Amino acid sequence: MMCSLWRGTLLTLTSSLNRRVFQCCRQLGRSYNIASCMPEAVAFQGVSDHSGLYKFSVNESDRFWGAVARQRLSWISPFHTVQNCDFSQGKIKWFEGGKLNVSVNCLDRHVQTCPERVALIWERDEPGTEVKITYRQLLELTCRLGNLLKRQGVRRGDCVTIYMPPCPLAMASMLACARIGAAHNVVFAGFSSEALADRIRDAQSSTVITVNQGVRGGKVVDLKRTVDQAVQNCPTVQQVLVAMRTENTVPMTDRDVPLEEEMMKEDVVCEPVAMDSEDVLFLLYTSGSTGKPKGLVHTQAGYLLYTSLTHRYVFNYHDGDVFGCVADIGWITGHSYIVYGPLCNGGTTVLFESTPVYPNPGRYWEMVERLGINQFYGAPTAIRLLLKYGDEWVQNYNRSSLKTLGSVGEPINTEAWEWYHRVVGDGRCPVVDTWWQTETGGICIAPRPADPEAEIVPGMAMHPFYGIKPALLDTEGEVLSSNDSTGALCISQAWPGMARTIHNHHQRFTETYFHPYPGFFFTGDGAHRSKEGYYQIIGRLDDVINVSGHRLGTAELEDVVNQCPGVAESAAIGYSHDIKGEGVYVFVVLKKAVMVEEDVLAQQLREMVSRSIAKYACPDFIQVVRCLPKTRSGKIMRRVLRKVVERNTDELGDLSTLDDPDSVHEVIRGHRRLRGDGKQQ
Ligand code: WTA
Repeated sequence: MMCSLWRGTLLTLTSSLNRRVFQCCRQLGRSYNIASCMPEAVAFQGVSDHSGLYKFSVNESDRFWGAVARQRLSWISPFHTVQNCDFSQGKIKWFEGGKLNVSVNCLDRHVQTCPERVALIWERDEPGTEVKITYRQLLELTCRLGNLLKRQGVRRGDCVTIYMPPCPLAMASMLACARIGAAHNVVFAGFSSEALADRIRDAQSSTVITVNQGVRGGKVVDLKRTVDQAVQNCPTVQQVLVAMRTENTVPMTDRDVPLEEEMMKEDVVCEPVAMDSEDVLFLLYTSGSTGKPKGLVHTQAGYLLYTSLTHRYVFNYHDGDVFGCVADIGWITGHSYIVYGPLCNGGTTVLFESTPVYPNPGRYWEMVERLGINQFYGAPTAIRLLLKYGDEWVQNYNRSSLKTLGSVGEPINTEAWEWYHRVVGDGRCPVVDTWWQTETGGICIAPRPADPEAEIVPGMAMHPFYGIKPALLDTEGEVLSSNDSTGALCISQAWPGMARTIHNHHQRFTETYFHPYPGFFFTGDGAHRSKEGYYQIIGRLDDVINVSGHRLGTAELEDVVNQCPGVAESAAIGYSHDIKGEGVYVFVVLKKAVMVEEDVLAQQLREMVSRSIAKYACPDFIQVVRCLPKTRSGKIMRRVLRKVVERNTDELGDLSTLDDPDSVHEVIRGHRRLRGDGKQQ
């Protein structure tokens, strides 16, 4: 009796205790989880995990972005309206009524809390000569430069063109513009003088900032000379500020201002201008499928918020981490993930001046070891290049600091993804394939953030970021609502990071991005949504080959070709074919020291393609080349290859942005050998 009573009481006690403990754990677990997802999310009703937070961010977009903007940015005066957007007019406005200064958000507020934290590690061309700059020092540089720009007559609303290699003064120039309310227009320092002149004229800049010379891969580049040539054809330019990257003097004219000398005369305090959320922060020129490069416009608050949030959550960046993005500041990746995102988060960011193979193919990994880089963000083209040199160049260095590896700019093929993951990351770092564009301002689709331990599929960008609602549309403009479908990748509602217009061409903006699929922002890319609902980018829609009515993504095809033994890299191009509509022509680069008969290789490739995709996808022509024509940023020039396979070599156009123009002539000769002149297969 006693016994059973006791047992009963005990049972009741333990079960209620268990229940309480269990509830307590659930509550703890819940608040712990969601706060670790994002602290603001604790206040979002009904949100208890990552997918709940994502749904909230797209369904309650005003509340989500409003809370995040109030929490993460320092405002001079608060905004009254979270968003005011209408895709049909291409109207995109965020945080209206708000005033802030981007340089204050990136510098001053961190100087207040941790002035001696390293903001920037300048990884100079020569390994082992890096320069560290603290938040306090970067603020001083920025203020001096801001004062100098004002003294030289630069006013709020002006646009300053920056033609500099990655260096602290380039970064300080961008921030100085932001401080005094001028817009910047950074032009990649690999562009020719004509390309630079076009951009200066279109931006109507009266001030250009440059360096005497650049240094890259052990070679000296005369950047000032390029600017001199460019400004001859730019009547708007009144002055050129010249920083000294090397000790060599260069000819200076009346128009030229010695930058360091003059900025040392300036005060280290420069009052930040209160900017409206929707004032212009910068222009950045990018090529479209037609016409001249377009100057995409990004504004203050929304862009800054979006880059900082994506930087924090896609890469799982934490205080004290060293973030290594090896892009050039001349591209959007450099703007968003070297400068604005990391600095807004008070991070330590690396500015890489060199190349992946200087002085040898171990450069990246030697740098990772020396600087203790925690997140490494690079381009597939470099990964593929390094893969060719073998694993030893990686394994020679200690990469235990690495926590996350990122990829951007083009589809990453499975072989490169796996090498990055297995060899570079020792199989322990998540690899995030991040999809986005100059137009989107920041990362829109990436495997992280996601539920903890969520799987990552090689070569897939996978999940939309908070606030991003992707849609796939078919050629009729219908939304494909089921999974396992392929279509034009669009985004169905506004997000704060998106471009606001094309400088001086708002109509081109609406026509390019909003007219093709009314009600949607059209990315120009094609994508597949898998059975599981994961997004995979196929590539530009203009690169999709249509063979006998079957769509074939060039990226999809290259992925297979690249897995063929001996193949380092490839490019698949559609060419017009009398019967099939389009046929497939593949250019192949072999790995170093691989010798193979072209016939044997072709046979192998065709077999693999038939096996992996379908017979229709088999290439009609396979041409082995020494290297593929690429832009200096590493993008394969498909336009050039298409002209070659279409035999329009008279119209190759401007090759000035090519890394190695000779490679084009080699490709043309090889093509002639393969197909003969004018003979249709
Ligand atoms: C392509 C670079 C596949 C895509 C940030 C896009 C990608 C264009 C990826 C934008 C990726 C970028 N997978 N393709 N992860 N990331 N792209 O403006 O075609 O230089 O439209 O911006 O690069 O290039 P942009």
